Amino acid sequence: DWNAEHIVDELIGGVRAQVGDSGRVLLGISGGVDSSTLALLLARAVGDRLTAVFIDHGLLRLGEREQVEAALRPLGVNLVTVDARDEFLGQLAGVSDPEQKRKIIGREFIRAFERETAKLGEFEFLAQGTLYPDVIESAGGEGAANIKSHHNVGGLPDDVKFKLVEPFRTLFKDEVREIARLLGLPDHIRMRHPFPGPGLAIRVLGEVTEEKLDILKRVDDIFISGLREFGLYDGCSQALAVLTPIQSVGVMGDERTYSYTAALRAVTTDDFMTAEWARLPYEFLATMSNRIVNQVHEINRVVYDITGKPPATIEWE
Ligand code: XMP
Repeated sequence: DWNAEHIVDELIGGVRAQVGDSGRVLLGISGGVDSSTLALLLARAVGDRLTAVFIDHGLLRLGEREQVEAALRPLGVNLVTVDARDEFLGQLAGVSDPEQKRKIIGREFIRAFERETAKLGEFEFLAQGTLYPDVIESAGGEGAANIKSHHNVGGLPDDVKFKLVEPFRTLFKDEVREIARLLGLPDHIRMRHPFPGPGLAIRVLGEVTEEKLDILKRVDDIFISGLREFGLYDGCSQALAVLTPIQSVGVMGDERTYSYTAALRAVTTDDFMTAEWARLPYEFLATMSNRIVNQVHEINRVVYDITGKPPATIEWE
């Protein structure tokens, strides 16, 4: 018999017991449901002895940083946001190999995090939003989900010098969402699709530039807002837009265009190890295509990805 209120009390008690009366806790915030919920839980448990650090790597979706700040600060989370956009983009310049991009981003995360936390004094504890399936997957080590180098488990700076606080280690995602509801996390974050740590960098195929990120952010925002508007968002497990490096010929008024192709992808899945492409209504896809080519002038062609996983992965890189 799973009772969320009871679990919240128990988790808060557990954190207090581990951290004691004076321990300070550091937490990296990704903007996703797990770390956001953890921030709220820890704020309840230890108040200002929690410092939550949110790295803006410039690879976030439109308005995401502001949304996270607006969701957490009013609920008492001592949140530090770090603008590391120039560092990330600088390091990514000229790099087009997907694995290389991931490695650079992982490394820059740690650098930015360490640079920032060095200014914040001593922390004995590092909190992580590790869930039960992450524990299992890391232990297992193999399988489709690990074909790409993920960095959300055991990824943060020198874990060894911290004591880890991982209150969600025995929980599943649905349970965290229930806890999030009790703690007051807004639904748009609480029910948000997963978003990869490397962010939009793995959805701008090839080299990442500010200009391409800017195009993709606008396409993504139209697609995701559209899914919400048409009541289709919750029926998809994940949805995303990809900016391909393909340029093709089009026509706009009397003008010939030679612009980029955007791909839309939406999937349904239970575990993200396998997935089906979402059978979105044609009318919806038509509306999205029209909006995108009308509002994002750098795009003259929109395609919908109709490939399952396997053989395709959910992300394109
Ligand atoms: P794929 O593309 O492998 O993705 O089918 C499966 C799930 O994992 C997410 N993903 C990542 N998450 N760091 C993350 O935190 C990563 O490097 C990464 N790569 C993929 C992907 O969005 C999907 O939910």
